[in-house]
Amino acid sequence: QENRRARLLAVNKEAAKFFYYQLRTPAGEIGRRYLRKRELSEETMHKFGLGFAGKNGAGLVQYLRGKGFADEEIQGAGLAGNSEKYGLMSQFWNRVMYPIQDIHSRVIGFGGRVMGDGEPKYLNSPETPVFDKRRNLYGLNYARRARSSNIILCEGYMDVIAMHQAGFTQAVASLGTAFTEEQAALLRRYTETVLLAYDSDGAGVKAALRAIGILRNAGLTGRVINMQPYKDPDEFMKALGREAFEERIRQAENSFFFEIRILEGQFNMEDPEEKTKFHREIAGKLCEFSEEVERENYLQAAADKYFIGVDNLRKLVTSQAVRT
Ligand code: GTP
Ligand code: MN
Ligand code: MN
Ligand code: MN
Ligand code: MN
Repeated sequence: QENRRARLLAVNKEAAKFFYYQLRTPAGEIGRRYLRKRELSEETMHKFGLGFAGKNGAGLVQYLRGKGFADEEIQGAGLAGNSEKYGLMSQFWNRVMYPIQDIHSRVIGFGGRVMGDGEPKYLNSPETPVFDKRRNLYGLNYARRARSSNIILCEGYMDVIAMHQAGFTQAVASLGTAFTEEQAALLRRYTETVLLAYDSDGAGVKAALRAIGILRNAGLTGRVINMQPYKDPDEFMKALGREAFEERIRQAENSFFFEIRILEGQFNMEDPEEKTKFHREIAGKLCEFSEEVERENYLQAAADKYFIGVDNLRKLVTSQAVRT
């Protein structure tokens, strides 16, 4: 229903204004101090419309009612919930607020980061008729206008913001959930190459492997940026800066080699049995290339890299291709 959607967008927009001003009041000093500590400039805070949800949970509700929104609309946007004791109260409390915008720069929801070590670290708006987490990407409203041949896909809001501040305005992130087919299709409109800048921990590697498959199915070329020894793009940028990151982009690993390299770590190459299994895995991956020339090029590269006879590897591929 169009009117419903318009009202939800309107209430989100007003809430974003409220959080934005809150950050600039004395009560928002905690948030400002936090963001300064994370080395964000005023300009960056402004560009991303960052805000603050203070400790007074009634303030947002009063403000939105004053702007003519019904309680049901405020609740429907996921901005407030009913408590028996206090009535309608803000969902977000003592958090730095990141408005999430669609490609037309309309606020469709929020991510709120807790100050300090509370749980959950990030609280996100629930899905609503205007907030579809599978079909939106944080930062894409800016990234689509970046003059860049690639898009950089990160895990977190803060990663995107740090990248943009450093001049990489082609950075985006999924919305606190795993990267989806719908998001890949969306990216396909703007680029052919997606550079994965996921966290360097185990969870990040796992997420990268999933994303690579999704990108490939969408017809996108994926490459993986090595963040080591830092945890994520935000920390990398703080420590080493723009030029070092540019160098990492140039060195970004072909997604096929990344997959094989991760696989390699799971087998004991001293054991012929395991080594054979590893070779079969490589052959299995090669079978996924439907274009013959491409498959042959990867086959030769993999044989070379992992000291397998080209003919032996080709035999493995042929026997697997027959089976599938
Ligand atoms: P910082 O600690 O602020 O630098 O955050 P981060 O982005 O490095 O966090 P992390 O790597 O743990 O998570 C990456 C992204 O996953 C975040 O930006 C959030 O979108 C999401 N996320 C992290 N923690 C939570 C959580 O507790 N709940 C939900 N729903 N999402 C989370
Ligand atoms: Mn986490
Ligand atoms: Mn992480
Ligand atoms: Mn981080
Ligand atoms: Mn992280």
